[in-house]
Amino acid sequence: MDDLFLAPLAMSRAWAMPNANTFSVPPIRALIARHLTDGVWLDPFSRASPFAHLCITNDLNSNFYADYHEEAANFLARFDGANVDGVLFDPPYSPRQISESYKGVGRVVHGEDTTSAFYGDRKRLAARAIKVGGKALCFGWNSGGFGKANGFRLVEMLIVAHGGAHNDTICTVEIKEKNR
Ligand SMILES: C[S@@+](CC[C@H](N)C(=O)[O-])C[C@H]1O[C@@H](n2cnc3c(N)ncnc32)[C@H](O)[C@@H]1O
Repeated sequence: MDDLFLAPLAMSRAWAMPNANTFSVPPIRALIARHLTDGVWLDPFSRASPFAHLCITNDLNSNFYADYHEEAANFLARFDGANVDGVLFDPPYSPRQISESYKGVGRVVHGEDTTSAFYGDRKRLAARAIKVGGKALCFGWNSGGFGKANGFRLVEMLIVAHGGAHNDTICTVEIKEKNR
C-alpha cells in the first residue's frame, strides 16, 4: 500500500504569463529565491537566468551570458564529487525544443538527443554532483524530477498555469537523501 503513495509535500498553483526565460516568471522566481542557499549551485541550461550571478552557469548557446558554453552533459560531468549544494535544472521541455535549440546553434541533432535518455542521462549527472542534503529544482512539463532512483525525495511542487492552450510549467523541489 505504501508504494501507492508518495511522501507528503507542499503543493501550490499560480497563474502567470508564459516566458521562454523561465526564471523570470514571477511565481517561479519567488520559488527559486526561497530555496537558493549559500554555496555552490549549478545551472546547466541558464539562458537569461536572473540568478546567474549566484550559480555556475552553462548554456549551449553562446549568445547567452554563461560561465561555460558546453553541452550540458559535459558541463555536469565536471562536478562529479557530490559536493555541490544545488542544481537548477531547466532544459528544453520537449524533443521539438531540443531540436530547435540545437539547430539554433548550428549543431546536428542526433536520434539520441531527442529521446527520454536525454533527460535521464543529464539528471543522473546532475544528481551525482549534489551533496547529501542538497537540493534539485526541476522545471518542465512533468513532475518526475531527479527521483528516488537518483536518491532524491520530493518536498515541494509548484504548478504554474499560463492560460489558453499553453502547457503548465511544473516545478519540483527535491532533497538528496543518499548517494546512488
Ligand atoms: C528552458 S531554457 C532555460 C531558461 C532559463 N532557465 C531562464 O530562466 O532564462 C533552456 C536553455 O537550454 C539551452 N540548451 C538546450 N540544449 C542544451 C544542451 N544540450 N546543453 C546545454 N544547454 C542547452 C538552450 O539554449 C536554452 O537557453
